[in-house]
Amino acid sequence: MKIALLGSSGYLGQTYAQSRVPRGLSLIPIPRDQLDYSNPIILRNFIRREKVDGILNCAGFTGRPTVDACEDQQQLCFQLNVLLPELLAKVSSDEKTPLIQIGSGCIYQGNPSKTDPNQGFREEDQPNFSFDYPPCSYYSGTKAEMEKRIGHLPFVSIWRLRMPFSSQPDDRNLLQKLAKYPKVLEARNSLTDLNEMVSLTLRMLLAGVPSGIYNLTNPGVVSNSEIVEMLVAHGLRKLRPSFFSSTEEISMAMRAPRSSCVLDSSKIARLGFPMCDVREALARAVQAMARD
Ligand SMILES: NC(=O)c1ccc[n+]([C@@H]2O[C@H](COP(=O)([O-])OP(=O)(O)OC[C@H]3O[C@@H](n4cnc5c(N)ncnc54)[C@H](OP(=O)(O)O)[C@@H]3O)[C@@H](O)[C@H]2O)c1
Repeated sequence: MKIALLGSSGYLGQTYAQSRVPRGLSLIPIPRDQLDYSNPIILRNFIRREKVDGILNCAGFTGRPTVDACEDQQQLCFQLNVLLPELLAKVSSDEKTPLIQIGSGCIYQGNPSKTDPNQGFREEDQPNFSFDYPPCSYYSGTKAEMEKRIGHLPFVSIWRLRMPFSSQPDDRNLLQKLAKYPKVLEARNSLTDLNEMVSLTLRMLLAGVPSGIYNLTNPGVVSNSEIVEMLVAHGLRKLRPSFFSSTEEISMAMRAPRSSCVLDSSKIARLGFPMCDVREALARAVQAMARD
């Protein structure tokens, strides 16, 4: 099975490109400077010539140094997070070649239950942190808009992750952020162990799981202060950060509102692809970081 990998130079794309791919599957990274995958004719010709069985789109715009950059670069953000996936979905439908689009859990705020704070949003729940349900960040708005436009199409899958972490250094890694930030927002979230998610999704691809939306988070909910304590305990952070104490203080420091949310990942577990408990995954990553 041959899968074209778009956005292979990015944080997620590189993790896929460098991963150990199971036998029977090959990922073909497509460098943007060698093949303009935003041009549907060029992409279509590539799919036909190389007999590609699927497209995994890790290209997108997340904003650097933080998601606030999306507020300033709205046009590029919309182009990469909404219009490019829409174009890819059209090519995928024409060629009957599945498209896997990377999505995000940041289209939700909070959790769906008034009584159980650990209950998560399921795949079919309507986003409540989106252009349709403001306020939201521009970034989250584009991710929800993308789902609205292509999430229902027969050849499209959306793999939603949330605040990815691993033991490898990268300014996108949640553990690295929480090891460095002088001031932290206290929040409870579902998280994604990036390496576990990558190897699990490659197995899902090979097994031919049906197209659809999938929440790819580790079961369990964890707070930023708990993660900080793990980092301190392993010597990865000497001083504890201060935490934002009021919404006024947060809005002075951050231009866009942030999503904190709980996702339900039981759908992948029911299909035979469970992810391990979030605290177990965090402990493994923090220990590996402390060792390296
Ligand atoms: N990082 C996170 O915390 C996170 C969390 C949830 C979801 N996601 C989603 O995961 C996907 C990948 O995110 P990421 O963190 O890997 O992003 P990233 O590191 O910024 O990489 C994005 C990639 O997009 C490609 N790209 C295509 N056109 C571009 C353009 N005009 N300008 C800049 N880059 C362009 C580039 O790859 P090539 O040059 O190889 O084409 C680039 O490396 C996105 O859909 C994002 O929304 C990320």
